[in-house]
Formats: sequence, C-alpha cells, structure tokens
Amino acid sequence: MTSSPWWRGAAIYELYVQSFADADGDGIGDLPGVRARLPYLAALGIDAIWFSPWYPSPRSDAGYDVADYRSIDPAFGTLDDADALIAEGHTHGIRTIIDIVPNHCSDQHQWFQAALAAPPGAAERARFWFRPGRGPGGDIPPNGWQSIFGGPAWTRTTAPDGTPGEWYLHLFAPEQPDFNWANPEVRAEFEAILRFWFDRGVDGIRIDSAAMLTKDPRLPEIGPGDPSPHADRDDVHDIYRAWRAVAEQYSGRVLIGEIWLADATRFARYLRPDEMHTVFNFPYLCCPWDAAQLREVIDGTLAFHAAAGAPATWVLSNHDVDRHVSRYGRADTSFGLDRRDHSQPVDLALGTRRARAAALLTMALPGSVYLYQGEELGLWEVEDLPDDKRQDPIWHRTGGTDPGRDGCRVPLPWAGSEPPFGFSPPDAAKPPWLPQPVQWRELTVEAQTSDPESMLELYRQALRIRRAEAALGEHPDTPMTWRPAPDGVLVFDRGDGLCCVANLSAAPFPLPGRAAVLLASGPLADGLLPPDTSVWLRRPDVPLARPPGRRPGQHE
Ligand code: NOJ
Repeated sequence: MTSSPWWRGAAIYELYVQSFADADGDGIGDLPGVRARLPYLAALGIDAIWFSPWYPSPRSDAGYDVADYRSIDPAFGTLDDADALIAEGHTHGIRTIIDIVPNHCSDQHQWFQAALAAPPGAAERARFWFRPGRGPGGDIPPNGWQSIFGGPAWTRTTAPDGTPGEWYLHLFAPEQPDFNWANPEVRAEFEAILRFWFDRGVDGIRIDSAAMLTKDPRLPEIGPGDPSPHADRDDVHDIYRAWRAVAEQYSGRVLIGEIWLADATRFARYLRPDEMHTVFNFPYLCCPWDAAQLREVIDGTLAFHAAAGAPATWVLSNHDVDRHVSRYGRADTSFGLDRRDHSQPVDLALGTRRARAAALLTMALPGSVYLYQGEELGLWEVEDLPDDKRQDPIWHRTGGTDPGRDGCRVPLPWAGSEPPFGFSPPDAAKPPWLPQPVQWRELTVEAQTSDPESMLELYRQALRIRRAEAALGEHPDTPMTWRPAPDGVLVFDRGDGLCCVANLSAAPFPLPGRAAVLLASGPLADGLLPPDTSVWLRRPDVPLARPPGRRPGQHE
C-alpha cells in the first residue's frame, strides 16, 4: 500500500495568530512569535498549521474583515515573515494552510472604498450588493434579511454631500460588506489571490463561510420553508470548480470548506471530485458527549464521505465555539452556534476528563483531525472576561445576550506563574489583548511538559502513536469496525488489532483480556476502564477477518 495524500489523514493545528505568541511585546501574537515556537509544534507532532486570517484588517471581526488579501497585517509582521514561516514550516515537515475569506471583505478594502466614492449604478458598486432603500425616503432596508451577528443585514451609506444614499448588504457585521459573486471581476480576483498564495508555497486554503457566497439576485424576502436565498445555492459550486482547477495546477494543494449545513446530501455536494478536498465536520463538534449520538454522527459522516470518495474530518473545537473542556463539563454537553450558554455551571474536572477521552476517540477515527490551539493544554472557555475587554461583534451586536467568542480566544499560557505566562516577552509594552486567568499557571506548556498526567503529554503521545501506527496516520482510509459493546461504550478496531474503547457510561467497563494498552486517557484499575475514559489497545490475539468490500463504519 502506498501512503495516502497528506491531507487525507493529517493532524492540523488551528493557529489563532493574535493569541499564539507575541514576539514584539504589543500584546498581540505575531508571525515571529509563531516562528520561534515552530519547534514546539513540530514536537507536538502536527502535520499542518491552519492560520487564522493574517491579512491587514481593522479587526472588526478579528481579521475576518480583510482589507488586503495579498499582504500581512503589520501587527503580525511582513510578507517576508510569512514566506520565512512557510519555508521553515516545511523544513519541520509542517505544511501551511491559510484562511481565505471570500464572502465579504473589510469596509476598508480599496474596492469597497472605491464603491462608496462612486455613484449608484457605477461599476465599482457592482462588485458588492448596493440597493436603494424602500419607502418614500428610502429609509427602509431593501429587504428584511438579518445579519448572522445580529441586527439587519443592510447598512445605509451617506453620499458625499451628506445625504443618505444606497444601502449595502453584509451578512455579518456592517464592516464586512458582501461581495457580489455574480460579478466576473470578483471571481477573477479571488482566483488570482489563490495563485498568489500557492506561488508562495501555501499548501491549503480554508474557505471561510464557504456556502454563502452566491445570492439570489432578486434578493427576495425569506418566507417560512423557503430555500435560503443566500446560503448553499446551487450556483456556488461553479466557484469551487474553478478554484479546484487552480489548485490542480499545483501539486498537493487542498481546498477545505467551512460549511455549517444540517443536510448531509447537500453537504456532500461540496466534496465532488472537482470541488473541495475536505469539509469541516461540525455535526461531530456539536454532538453531545453521548455514545449513541456520537456513534450516529460517526457512521453518518463516514457513509457520506465514502460515497463522495473524500476523507472525513474530525474537530472538537475552534475559534468560534466554546472550548470543549467547558462544554463537556456542563449539564448540556451539546453545542449550537445560536445558543452559547455561559449561565450553566461548569465542572472543569469532569470536562477535562471527558476532553481527554474525546481526544483519543477523535484521533482514532479514519480521516484527518483538527486541533484548536490550547486544546492540547486543556484550556477552558474563559467565561468571566470583563465586558470592556470583549471584542467580538457578536457580543456587541446582540447587546451582550450572546457572550460571543472571546472566551475561546484568550492568549496561550507558555511559562511562568503569572500573566502574560510567556505569551509576550518580559519587558512587553502592553498586556495580552485579552486577559488570561491566573489559574492558567497550572496549564502552561512549561508546567505540563514532562508531567505524564498532563493534557499536553497525552496529546504528544497520541499524535506520536497516531503517526507511527500505519492504520491511523499513514493509511487514514483504513476502515473502522464497531465491536459489540454495552450502552454508553464505543469500541472499534482500526486495521488488524488496533482498538479504541471509549467509556461514556456511568459504570467501569472491563477491557478485553490480553490486550496491550498503548495509551489511556486516565488511570485504569484492575483491567477496568473508568467512566469518561478512553484507551487505545493492541489486540494481537484477535485479528479481524475483514471480508473484501467492507465499508468504513460497517458493523460486525
Ligand atoms: C467564520 C469564521 O470562522 C468566523 O470567525 C467569522 O466571524 C465568520 N466566518 C465571518 O467571516
């Protein structure tokens, strides 16, 4: 068997640049900070870094409001720093994935500034969605669409003479005007941007809000049961076919879609052979800590990926969701973008135990896996940030009813016993852009290194074994086979003899005799796997006779 293409089984680390490592002491992470920590990432055992947007940006939405797609935010460094990082990553065996934001740009982008300066009907405005308002004075938005961040999806412009002008569409914040993808200039521009970065050695593109780019040009009102006029429209796929053609002109480059869609059939369409390589698995992330429901999501995921011929991806956390240590420590362990609930009490010890178990479950599944920076340290959601420090537009646009996403974006603790915990240099001019909890002194990289019971050492070992075991890393398409297990327990094999057991039940589970323990997420007692604990076993005694044609996820 030859090895699979790298992206089918990669362990990919989401690096949230402003919160990773601050080399120049301004309280904001930067690319020289990342460069200095590349040995940490290499030793962790990851295969690729996905960088959150690193472009110049007024940061109205933490960089997802891009002012220039071909440059680096001066707060992060320079294009030379990015080039050096890409090249140096490669010397460590780490590939680079960047975040492209094609649905919208910043209101400071030169195209949008030109559009504002141009009169209604001008070509500069046709790259966006400008429309006159309704009502006698035009003071009612062109339609009733709502922004995903709260409030109307339209903002009115002011003409140079100070009179109110046309409105423009923004599905996110007003500082993020939506591009009009029916305009050929927009399409040509983004294909050129892809080439710009592929030419610099970037290995993959994470496509932000990937299902939202095209809109029904009639901009209709949305009635109950109507198909969305601005999400997952059939014509969005033409864009990705063109992008795939660009990627195919290079070697080993991948397109990864950020797509939140409930309908697996619609979802799978993005994975057709001439579109994206992989998509994020949000049903898995949102799933509660419940064996039956997880099994259903795993089976569903594998079935539709197998049909598409694409590898599954597995993700527990990212920069948009509550950290899973906290989620798993609540009474309701599920997650929904529309219901972050910081009023539920959190049992951090329980959440941490489950997060450890979830890490082994996740890393044993067929496909690639995403880690969000800090999950390897067991960081929790910081729910008590002072309101005046919060930056997320969701917090501001919902009047604080939604706590937003700042709590998962707090800068990493590296070393020492007090903030900034080595995130910034000792003589830093400014504190970290979001305050770190003092309790994180126990979770620094320094504190966890060499502690065999730490989350960091668990991740290091799991990633090392995942890479070394052919059935996991090298041949990520090796099927998984469920074994019979009591309610609340998940048991499956990968390849011949490698077995993962996750005990989500309330009772200890007896492990199969004569199996060697490769790695356990918690202490085992007398051959019993305690609740909320997972283990990787080798079972030389029970080779699986796998009939030809057995599909991933197929049951015994
Ligand atoms: C998805 C990104 O992950 C999120 O952080 C951002 O706010 C929206 N897309 C808008 O770009």
